[in-house]
Amino acid sequence: MIDLRSDTVTKPTRGMLEAMFKAEVGDDVFGEDPTANLLQEKVAKLLGKEDSLFVASGTMANQLSLRAHTQPGDEIILERNSHVFNSESGGGAALSGVQFYLLEGDRGVLDPSRIEKVIRDSSDHHRPATRLIWIENTHNRGGGSVYPLEVVKEIFRVARKNNLLVYMDGARLLNAAISLGVDPKEYTQYVDSTILCLSKGLGAPVGSMVAGSSEFINRVHRFRKMFGGGMRQIGYLAAAGIYALDHHVERLAEDHTNAKRLAEAISEFKSFKIDPKNFQTNIIHFEIIGQGMDSKVVVSKLKDKGVLVLPRDDRSIRAVTHLGVDKDDIEEVISIMKKLFS
Ligand SMILES: Cc1ncc(COP(=O)(O)O)c(C=O)c1O
Repeated sequence: MIDLRSDTVTKPTRGMLEAMFKAEVGDDVFGEDPTANLLQEKVAKLLGKEDSLFVASGTMANQLSLRAHTQPGDEIILERNSHVFNSESGGGAALSGVQFYLLEGDRGVLDPSRIEKVIRDSSDHHRPATRLIWIENTHNRGGGSVYPLEVVKEIFRVARKNNLLVYMDGARLLNAAISLGVDPKEYTQYVDSTILCLSKGLGAPVGSMVAGSSEFINRVHRFRKMFGGGMRQIGYLAAAGIYALDHHVERLAEDHTNAKRLAEAISEFKSFKIDPKNFQTNIIHFEIIGQGMDSKVVVSKLKDKGVLVLPRDDRSIRAVTHLGVDKDDIEEVISIMKKLFS
């Protein structure tokens, strides 16, 4: 099977498994896991923040950050297709008691001037307190879209002017940085805190990192314990993360090239509509315009030929490239699609 459903389906490479096997470990709840400590230092340095913490998943990283940054009743400004709003089981309301002010973005990217307009008047006690501006970079449902650096800089300016914090759901932050050819610190200088997932395009089996000031990470650490996320010999997992950061970052560019190649090929098919220009990283979306077909039909025809993709809705499909899919696989997918749909 060529699995294009998500970049979370990657399996550890032999090199990664060897690194995991050799890891030095200790009880991380006692702060004694040397490999977890090393990973945390490495990520803090990579992202130019005082500290970082290993957590179980991107969802946990988002939820702990939300809890650590806010008080119940606070309002968060975010894009309406954000992962935290749509795909985290209502965690913001359940675990932090916050409310969301949703704005429509351009493929997920927020316009700073629109953010500024919806910040609440803090002198009016009728209003919820706006606390945080939440950006998602790359934006998953936006099609892996990349925030331009100047937009993040401007969002940060608006935030500071209004005494607000900026948080980045950077599950795929390194895809964004590689796509722009910039150091990730170019982004993180404009956010108070960020996350980074090790288990997506980077290919680790488990884990995400939260990064920010020492004070913030200390709060995140407390909530990680409270929410049951304190784990013991996590060095085996941290070793996979270190290996991923050492070996799998630069190669994200290959995933972007493969996604672009697939998008361009699909744009030639009569049954589908896609503008390859809209897809800068490893996620592509295409619409079904052919008669007598819907997502279910397309997904099932491709599955019969050994290709897995995800339906987004009745008339649109998502495909994601990653470490487990190479250039030849993409050419094979294109030739299968040509036979089925062109
Ligand atoms: C932007 C974004 N944030 C957070 C997550 C959550 O990550 P996890 O699946 O590790 O909980 C995802 C997952 O796809 C995501 O795309």
